[in-house]
Amino acid sequence: MTLPIMKYDAVIVGGGGAGLRAALQLSEAGVKTVVLSKVFPTRSHTAAAQGGISASLGNVEEDNWHWHMYDTVKGADWLGDQDAIEFMCSKAVEAVVELEHFGMPFDRLENGKIYQRPFGGHMANFGKKPVRRACAVADRTGHAMLHALYQRNVKANTHFLVEWMALDLIRNKNGDVIGITALEMETGEVFIIHAKAVLFATGGGGRIYQSSTNAYINTGDGIGMALRAGLPVEDMEFWQFHPTGLAGSGVLITEGVRGEGGYLLNSNGERFMERYAPTAKDLASRDVVSRAMQIEINEGRGCGSNKDYVLLKLDHLGKDVIEQRLPGIREICLQFLGIDPVKEPIPIVPTCHYMMGGIPTNYHGEVIVPEGVDMEKVVKGLYAAGECACSSVHGANRLGTNSLLDLVVFGKAAGNSMVEYIKAHSEEHKDLPDDAADFTLARLAKLNDSKNGESLGELKREVQVVLQRHASVFRTQKVLEEGVQEIEALDKRAQNIFIKDKSKVFNLARVEALEFANTIEVAIATMICAEARKESRGAHAREDFPERDDDNFMKHTLYYKDGRKIVYKDVHTKPLSVDYIPPAKRVY
Ligand code: FUM
Repeated sequence: MTLPIMKYDAVIVGGGGAGLRAALQLSEAGVKTVVLSKVFPTRSHTAAAQGGISASLGNVEEDNWHWHMYDTVKGADWLGDQDAIEFMCSKAVEAVVELEHFGMPFDRLENGKIYQRPFGGHMANFGKKPVRRACAVADRTGHAMLHALYQRNVKANTHFLVEWMALDLIRNKNGDVIGITALEMETGEVFIIHAKAVLFATGGGGRIYQSSTNAYINTGDGIGMALRAGLPVEDMEFWQFHPTGLAGSGVLITEGVRGEGGYLLNSNGERFMERYAPTAKDLASRDVVSRAMQIEINEGRGCGSNKDYVLLKLDHLGKDVIEQRLPGIREICLQFLGIDPVKEPIPIVPTCHYMMGGIPTNYHGEVIVPEGVDMEKVVKGLYAAGECACSSVHGANRLGTNSLLDLVVFGKAAGNSMVEYIKAHSEEHKDLPDDAADFTLARLAKLNDSKNGESLGELKREVQVVLQRHASVFRTQKVLEEGVQEIEALDKRAQNIFIKDKSKVFNLARVEALEFANTIEVAIATMICAEARKESRGAHAREDFPERDDDNFMKHTLYYKDGRKIVYKDVHTKPLSVDYIPPAKRVY
């Protein structure tokens, strides 16, 4: 069957921060660019980023990018690639100033400079004391960033396909990426989008967990498409649990609350982080704080009748500070729990927040795969940026506010690489193979032909239960092995999904089934990679292997769907221009 074909030079899948930043670079260079997004771009999950974007502006106190780089390497528990980390941290100031010039309405200090607040793991002088590095727009920084980037793209004539979902990558016989298949959600029609270069900026997949700060659209689409196209994904065992998810719903309560002076309390009224992180206290990195909270809860010092949460106290900051710096948080607490944080503390639990792993890329945003012994090659025509990519700047644990920075620095870098590639291939598009859409069409036909089978809602729920129970803050071999078995069993059942509504027009059940095909790949990769890593590093905390094992595991995991294969590759320990930061014990 032939499908309608649309032609662009560059296709950006995802309209969040990374996608929009890349698109801007392309459109401003005169490249015919389209952004495909499941939701209106300013409703992308970047809008949920609250506390800030990191840059060592030094507006409040002395700071520099070398300290930022050190904190990022340490935060990543030495699994981050130091070339990519240097690239990101050294470009942070320029990136924030650029956003300011794009019209992003940063909060201001008395002297008119951009307002900066402390954040977890941001330290001065190579870990000596907390520093104010997070540049903030109250507690709505991501929202403000998205609007600024979207408006710039409108001005630059970027084309948008809104409420479109990418389905599969199209590769030619050389393995080069030459487009995608995509679904127009409103009509249910499927198209081939033929392109010279494709960028995945599809965000994370944190909806694999029951308790998650992630939007419902975060279904790991880029990961699913990459795996189905035979590409590996990297470091999928590393998931960040944000310490302050609202108890019950998991809605994000920004770390900016602790940055402004809020702190955690157990049921004894004790400020327990002083015991776990004597210097940084409540502003230690997220993995450290989440583990401390979980220990307090596990040892019976949680709050409430079930002793299953701790408290975040901020009433001492006063109404004025809360209204000026944290208005969104107050609104969330009032709406979700009927609690006013001006008067009482907030019940919070560690909640899945961020996927450190993703599609392997270098710091130019090019997708890379292993070749031969200790070699890597670029997948021609394919790029990735933002949460779906693993560049790897976050290693085993991301620092708060480094995600917004990652989006703009690597979005721009990927955009630049694509401009270069497209200009070097200015001749016609590479030929589409005759079977370009066959794989996608077979997937759709299977859904359409299903007469009975598994309920999608039930399967989704069960996947979340498995991940929450078997790949949470603390992990053991037995729990992980059981998790692998359970997710494999769910995968078998997922081959037989039944959707009742077979109509094409705005059929959300069909869209959700297509999303779930991606989500389950994220979940399987997570369980298998987590079971295989027999050490504790960053967010991957094994009770049975409590120490970091640099001899055997200072390595990135690469997972392939085919045969559920795992291979390991070396961490890039060599920075671009500065000295290597050697592994050390992580204390805060
Ligand atoms: O806590 C927060 O505001 C989240 C920020 C981030 O994940 O970077």
